[in-house]
Amino acid sequence: MAETRNAVELRNVVKRFGEFTAVQRMNLTVPDNSFVTFLGPSGCGKTTTLRMIAGLTDITDGDLLIRDKRVNALPIHKRNLGLVFQSYALFPHKTIFDNIAFGLKYRKIPRSMIGEKVKRALDLVQLPNVGDRYPNQLSGGQQQRIALARAIVIEPDVLLLDEPLSALDANLREEMRVELKRIQRELGIATVFVTHDQSEALAMSDKLVVMNNGMIEQEGAPEDVYNNPVSAFVADFLGHSNIIAGELDGPDQEYMPVHLSSGETLLTTRQQAGRVARVEGSKSVRAVIRAEKIDLSTENIPQDGMVALPGRIKTVDYLGQTARYFVTVNGRDWQVINPINAHPHAEGADVFMNIAARNCVILPGHAD
Ligand SMILES: Nc1ncnc2c1ncn2[C@@H]1O[C@H](COP(=O)(O)OP(=O)(O)OP(=O)(O)O)[C@@H](O)[C@H]1O
Ligand SMILES: [Mg+2]
Repeated sequence: MAETRNAVELRNVVKRFGEFTAVQRMNLTVPDNSFVTFLGPSGCGKTTTLRMIAGLTDITDGDLLIRDKRVNALPIHKRNLGLVFQSYALFPHKTIFDNIAFGLKYRKIPRSMIGEKVKRALDLVQLPNVGDRYPNQLSGGQQQRIALARAIVIEPDVLLLDEPLSALDANLREEMRVELKRIQRELGIATVFVTHDQSEALAMSDKLVVMNNGMIEQEGAPEDVYNNPVSAFVADFLGHSNIIAGELDGPDQEYMPVHLSSGETLLTTRQQAGRVARVEGSKSVRAVIRAEKIDLSTENIPQDGMVALPGRIKTVDYLGQTARYFVTVNGRDWQVINPINAHPHAEGADVFMNIAARNCVILPGHAD
């Protein structure tokens, strides 16, 4: 029976640069075959963590395991990793073939096998006929694919990718992200991918790791992290959220009222309420409502488990398929993102913000 192993495991890993702690007691697993993404703001420690896994940076404290073997002191060239970094340029004076073959020659793979392996890698990145060219004869996206081919040709245990798509324009970037995912699936290589692009992170990951200040804020399946943020940081960083202080009220029942400090009352679910009541035993909470989980309507159609707050549209940003609104309710501006059916709602229009109880996420009342 195939057993799931961890391709990479971090146990209480710390990285200090002098007095400064860049990574704080990190515990993390990257299961075999999985695609794990580090997402977080600039400076939160994503690259540092990746560099420790790669062996490009020493670990200050803790243990790093690759395929169940402690590798803290193992030099990079003995770790069998594929690396693609944003600035990991190809060798300009070598042909594409030689660029990809480089790691194979270094590993003393017999000449007779090199040609076949390079060909397979080029096929995989769908650039079968560029072996004789030089890097400057390829587009940025093609060069990026060659960098990927060079990383995977050695059949690494782990693929480490640090913002490999960030130099590409939006369309190409989206194309490459589909390609990358396809290749990862096809080869089944455990992959750690660093990005600060949240849509990339949500679309690609089996496991999403949200980092902040050298720590993991939350990890899990993208959907779970998105729908059930454990902190205001995650709620705010991933998507656009309205976060409002309030008091959770009433007996334990299916729908429970939350009185917001701004005066309105929302409903939340027993399940949401349970997330804090059990831990905190207090009724002071923060309600988190994602901008796209609020439905705007011009009429008030009462529905079970739903609250309709009357407001007025202050601004409209047309975003193509969606529009982003700021809606003023009792002097407070709420952010709302809705698909555009025929026309977006107009500035100054009176609307109802419809919010379902299940979309009112409850966090403890204190600041994170
Ligand atoms: N060699 C170094 N010496 C001192 N401090 C460093 C060094 N490398 C990184 N740092 C610091 O460690 C922190 C984490 O840096 P890191 O490069 O891991 O961030 P990041 O999450 O990759 O950010 P970005 O999204 O901007 O790439 C930063 O505050 C950075 O200034
Ligand atoms: Mg970085």
